[in-house]
Amino acid sequence: MQKVLIDCDPGHDDATAILYAAAHLDLVGVTTVYGNQTVEKTTDNALSLVTLLGLDVPVAQGCAGPLNGIVQHGGDLHGKTGIDGAVLPEPDREAIDMHAVDFIIDMARRHKGELVLCPIGPFTNVALALRKEPRLASWLKGISVMGGTTQVGNTTPVAEFNIWCDPEAADIVFRSGAPLWMVGLNVTRQVGVTEKDVARLMAGGPVARIFGGLFDFFRERLREVHGLSTASMHDPCALVPFIVPDLISYRHCPVEIELGRGPARGMTVCDMRQLTTGKLENIRSMHAANCHVAVGVEARPLVDHILDAIIDWRLISEKK
Ligand code: RIB
Ligand code: CA
Repeated sequence: MQKVLIDCDPGHDDATAILYAAAHLDLVGVTTVYGNQTVEKTTDNALSLVTLLGLDVPVAQGCAGPLNGIVQHGGDLHGKTGIDGAVLPEPDREAIDMHAVDFIIDMARRHKGELVLCPIGPFTNVALALRKEPRLASWLKGISVMGGTTQVGNTTPVAEFNIWCDPEAADIVFRSGAPLWMVGLNVTRQVGVTEKDVARLMAGGPVARIFGGLFDFFRERLREVHGLSTASMHDPCALVPFIVPDLISYRHCPVEIELGRGPARGMTVCDMRQLTTGKLENIRSMHAANCHVAVGVEARPLVDHILDAIIDWRLISEKK
């Protein structure tokens, strides 16, 4: 079973990614970062989630802000707690006594060649781990991120939130040389939980009802802020290549991060051109392909597969 470590900022869709990974993969750990809320709140949320799901998985707290030091987080899109919409249990444990950056390095060393790192919040922890341990990229089987977009952004017209929070960190990740998968808004916004799906969850067991409440809140917030009609399951999409690989299609291409201070800051510049090997006069070529970029999705089957994991959680957890 594929080993994964999730680096996250729970976050409604992060919470879903944790359950989805625990249901189908070998989740070796969770690290937390600022983003949807402060790192203190995202850590509390992660601890409450592993308590709710009864997971014996370590949680390590990470960075409170981006590499450039300008602390920020996503306002209240995910609510004051960062995961409004349901009452989660008080944590039955504390975060481990190791910083997320060191925990990521330790897990990669321990599971050399087997571990996939899944950053689904700002990439600050992962970037610092790559800087601190230059061998990290070679120890990892790969890095599968939720972030960026090949089309419009959310935080700005061209930048997606996880990249926008820390573009310098994203640049380190995209230049790391590790095998890289990127699923951006162009795909994840198609993977939406509907009002009917929420009703199905609310008719389920305790865990399903809690996620139904979370999705109901998140769906309403996305409607208010972005005019969307469904709750986007951004973060679980980063796990799809290792669970149901046929449901998201990828194209291997060059990706660069815009680091300027202008309106395009944080843009993931994905070169989708089908350049021939002919003369490149008057055409700017980019560096070699460095990332598998998600370009298509079987959205409804994927939403159903995620919902099944939530609804069947008790059965699944008893088997593990
Ligand atoms: O832009 C979507 C991303 O930002 C998701 O990871 C969501 O949880 C927020 O962190
Ligand atoms: Ca997230």
